[in-house]
Amino acid sequence: MEFTKVVEKRRSIRQYNSYPVADDLIEKILESARVAPSVGHRQPYHFIVVKDDKKKALRLREWASEAPVIIVGCTDSSVSPSWHLVDFAIAFEHMVLAATNIGLGTCWIGRLEHETVKKVLNIPDNITIVAVTPLGYPAEKPKPKVRKTLSEMVHYERF
Ligand SMILES: Cc1cc2nc3c(=O)[nH]c(=O)nc-3n(C[C@H](O)[C@H](O)[C@H](O)COP(=O)(O)O)c2cc1C
Repeated sequence: MEFTKVVEKRRSIRQYNSYPVADDLIEKILESARVAPSVGHRQPYHFIVVKDDKKKALRLREWASEAPVIIVGCTDSSVSPSWHLVDFAIAFEHMVLAATNIGLGTCWIGRLEHETVKKVLNIPDNITIVAVTPLGYPAEKPKPKVRKTLSEMVHYERF
């Protein structure tokens, strides 16, 4: 898909088809995170792909755990104390856009039970969960959302 189309098409999907996502597509999406830029090339992130019964145990909202795949995104903040969240966001959004490009839906989810997810997935104490996304074929087409205009956020020459 043309890049501007991918960016336009990306939306938060909160209803998924149960149709499975092929492993090579999941890998393609993960690969787009692997090549993301990061401060000092430190790559402080980890991604856990969950496809089995543990999805329910993560206690996400029902619409999320019904997706065929959940990707849990984490960082090791000790690797990049000031920038791990920025690096994470870039890599995670790469995945979101890569998924859109191949017709798959995602939704950034930041509100979750960190301790529950850590326990279920055996995530070590020093690792921070930042966000998760369901991954699957969309079963909804969200209505367009009103966004701020460019004039509300862009400043030329001075603030
Ligand atoms: C960092 C981040 C965290 C988010 N957390 C949640 C969340 O916990 N639950 C949820 O339903 N949506 C969450 N969203 C999705 C936003 O609500 C959504 O991106 C925004 O409303 C714009 O809609 P769109 O993605 O369809 O364009 C999150 C988005 C971002 C970027």
